[in-house]
Amino acid sequence: MSAHLHILGISGSLRAGSLNTALLRNAQAMLPAHVSLSLADLSGIPLFNQDLEHAPPEAVQTLKAQIAGADALLFAVPEYNYSLSGVLKNAIDWISRPPEAQPFAGKPAAVMSAGGRFGGVRAQAHFRQIAAGLEMLVMPKPELLIPQAKQKFNSAGELIDPEACDQLRAFIEAFMRWIKRLRQEHSAAASR
Ligand SMILES: Cc1cc2nc3c(=O)[nH]c(=O)nc-3n(C[C@H](O)[C@H](O)[C@H](O)COP(=O)(O)O)c2cc1C
Repeated sequence: MSAHLHILGISGSLRAGSLNTALLRNAQAMLPAHVSLSLADLSGIPLFNQDLEHAPPEAVQTLKAQIAGADALLFAVPEYNYSLSGVLKNAIDWISRPPEAQPFAGKPAAVMSAGGRFGGVRAQAHFRQIAAGLEMLVMPKPELLIPQAKQKFNSAGELIDPEACDQLRAFIEAFMRWIKRLRQEHSAAASR
């Protein structure tokens, strides 16, 4: 088991000023030295078409390989109309097919949101339901919901609210423990 950990960050928002993408960048800066985080690019993923599930477009193949190769996934999920964004759901649908070759199963994951009044709680609830169906191992707690997020980042995308910064730091530390625990359980099971 390698000591280096690679996390793939997946933002459900494509806009240049996305606060969810910014949240991932802030998380990136808080990781310990042995952990790297790269950001997936969902902008080239077309609408899902099941006719193509056995020969998906290149952007989907790239994302699938990135997910399969990552030690863990960190999702930043915006709330759109009381749910997760269509951009993210569409990407998940592509990656979930065909079911016997989907790379989410058994993958350690965590979900966080920068949102409006309730911080994305409804988006996360729907995300967790989808993730359970795909057998992702999503950290149950702590939850990271940043309500009124627009007021908590500066124009450069830096999280400037001290309480939110503390919450993000604690969330990242808990995620590191979650990944470690799952990796230990996995290697113990493999050596049995
Ligand atoms: C189509 C759309 C629907 C939205 N619906 C909700 C909503 O139901 N609840 C909420 O709290 N915010 C809602 N918002 C606000 C977004 O969650 C907020 O703008 C968030 O910052 C978007 O993520 P981003 O900054 O990463 O792009 C909505 C925004 C859009 C564009």
